[in-house]
Amino acid sequence: MVKEICCIGAGYVGGPTMAVIAFKCPEYKVTVVDINKERIKAWNGDIDKLPIYEPGLKEIVKKTRSNNLFFSNDIDKAIDSSSIIFMAVNTPTKDYGEGKGMATDLTYVEECSKRIAKMSKSNKIVVEKSTAPIGTAEKIKETLSLNNKNVKFEVISNPEFLAEGSAIDDLINPDRVLVGGDQTPSGKEAISQITSIYSNWIAQEKIITTNLWSSELSKLASNAFLAQRVSSINSLSALCEESGANIQEVSKAVGADTRIGNKFLEASVGFGGSCFKKDILNLVYLCKFYGLNEVSEYWHQVIKINDYQKNRFASRIVNELNGTVNNKIITLLGWAFKKDTNDSRESASIDIANYLLTEGAIINVYDPMVSNELIHDDLVNKLKSNGLDNDQIESKISRVNIYDNIYKAAENTFCLSILTEWDEFKDINWAKVSKLAENPLFVADGRNIIEYEVRNSLIDRYISIGNPKIIKSD
Ligand code: UDX
Ligand code: UDX
Repeated sequence: MVKEICCIGAGYVGGPTMAVIAFKCPEYKVTVVDINKERIKAWNGDIDKLPIYEPGLKEIVKKTRSNNLFFSNDIDKAIDSSSIIFMAVNTPTKDYGEGKGMATDLTYVEECSKRIAKMSKSNKIVVEKSTAPIGTAEKIKETLSLNNKNVKFEVISNPEFLAEGSAIDDLINPDRVLVGGDQTPSGKEAISQITSIYSNWIAQEKIITTNLWSSELSKLASNAFLAQRVSSINSLSALCEESGANIQEVSKAVGADTRIGNKFLEASVGFGGSCFKKDILNLVYLCKFYGLNEVSEYWHQVIKINDYQKNRFASRIVNELNGTVNNKIITLLGWAFKKDTNDSRESASIDIANYLLTEGAIINVYDPMVSNELIHDDLVNKLKSNGLDNDQIESKISRVNIYDNIYKAAENTFCLSILTEWDEFKDINWAKVSKLAENPLFVADGRNIIEYEVRNSLIDRYISIGNPKIIKSD
C-alpha cells in the first residue's frame, strides 16, 4: 500500500521540504496543500516560475511533480487520505491583544488542528513543522482530541532548520534532524515512523529524538544562538568604526578558535528573515511569562542590537551627506534579506528605506530577484505600521522608484548603498556608475563586499560595516 503524507502550507518551508521528501522517498505519495489558490496554481504551473526560488528546487520538483509529489487546494481530501500530516503554516508575531508584538500568533495552527480533527476518520500522526512556542504541541494535542474523540492522534515536533537560499542542500545534507514526541509506547512508535522517513537518506546518528518540549525549545534556541552571534559581531563593528580595528580581521581571529567556530560571524547591516526576530521575541515573551525577567532581557538585547545596527547605518549615510538627504536620491542595492532568495521578510532594506524616506530622501531600489509588487507592499506595510494615513503613504511611495537595472538605479544618486550581498554587486562597473551618479561617488557598503583595491581606486567616499571610512586621496 502506498504511504500517504500531506503537508498543510506550501510556503518556504512546506514546499522545499516536501519536494525533498518526495524525491528521497519514492514509496510515499506526498501532497502539499494550501488555502492560497494562487500559490498552488504556481506550484503546478511553469517550472521556471515556481512561487519560491531556491537553488536546486526546480530540478527536484521537475522529477517528482505528478509522480509522487502533488500540489492541491483540496485540504480536506489530503487530510483524510494521509496517515502523516505535516503542519507548515505561518506562525507570525501577534499584532493584536495580549503579547502584541512579541508572542506568536497561533491562529493558523489552531485552525489547522481543528480541520485535521474534523476530517480525520483514521488514526493520524500530526507533525508540527511550524516554529511555535514551547507547549504548542500540547495545545495541538488538546485541540485534536477535544474535536474528534473517535480517532487517535500522535503529535510530533519536527522543527525545520533549513536556511533560505541553501534550503535544498540543508534538507539533503542536514547537520541534524530533530524528532520530538511523547515518551509513551504510541508516542515512541510515532517518533519511529517519522524518523523512518528521514532514514531514507540521513545517517541514523544525525537523527536526534527527544521529548516534545526539548524539541520545541531546541528550535528556538538554535535560531537565538545564531542571531546572537550576528548581533555580537555587529555590536563590535560599532567599536571598530570608532577605533582602528577592522571587523573582518577581528572576526577571522575570533572564529579561528575551534571552540568558537567561524560561521555566522559576518558583520552586516543587520539580520533579517522571517525567523530570527520572531523566534527570539517568542523566547523573550515565554521567559517573561514564566517570570524569568533576566533571561528574557538577555535575549531581547540580541534584537535591540540588530535594530541599533540598522539605524546606525542609515544615520551614517545621512551624516556623510552633510546631515541631510532631503530630496536627494539614495540608491538601495538589494531588497532580499540575504542573497539567493526572493524573500524580503524582515529585510534590513525595509528599515533603511523607511529611515531615509522619513528623512525626505528619494529612494531608488534594485534587486535581482524580489518582485516590484513585494517591494511596494513591504514599504506600504512598514509605513502603515508607523501610523501614516493613506495620503501620507501615497506621498512617500511616490518617492520610491524600482528599477530592473543597477545603472538606471544609479542615475543622479547621492549614495549607492549595498544592502544584500548579491554576487553581481561584486562586479559592478564603478567607472560607469561614477559617470551616472552625483560626484563625488559615495558608496555605503552594508555587506562589506567591495574589494579593497576597488574601493581605494574607484570610489571617492566609502563607508562599510566595522571599518573606518575611506576617502580617496588621488
Ligand atoms: C512558516 C512559519 O513562518 C515558520 O515559523 C515555520 O517554521 C514554517 O512555516 P514559511 O513556510 O516560510 O514559514 O511561511 P509561508 O511561506 O508564509 O508559508 C505558509 C503557508 O501556509 C502559506 O502559503 C499559507 O497560505 C499557508 N496556510 C496558512 C494554509 O494553507 N492554511 C492556513 O490555515 C494558514
Ligand atoms: C535561519 C536559520 O539559519 C535556519 O536554520 C532556520 O531554520 C531559519 O532561520 P534564514 O533566516 O533562512 O535561516 O537565513 P540565515 O542564513 O540564517 O540568515 C539570517 C540573516 O542573518 C540574514 O539576513 C543574513 O544576511 C544574516 N547574517 C547571517 C549575517 O548578517 N551575518 C552572518 O554571519 C550570517
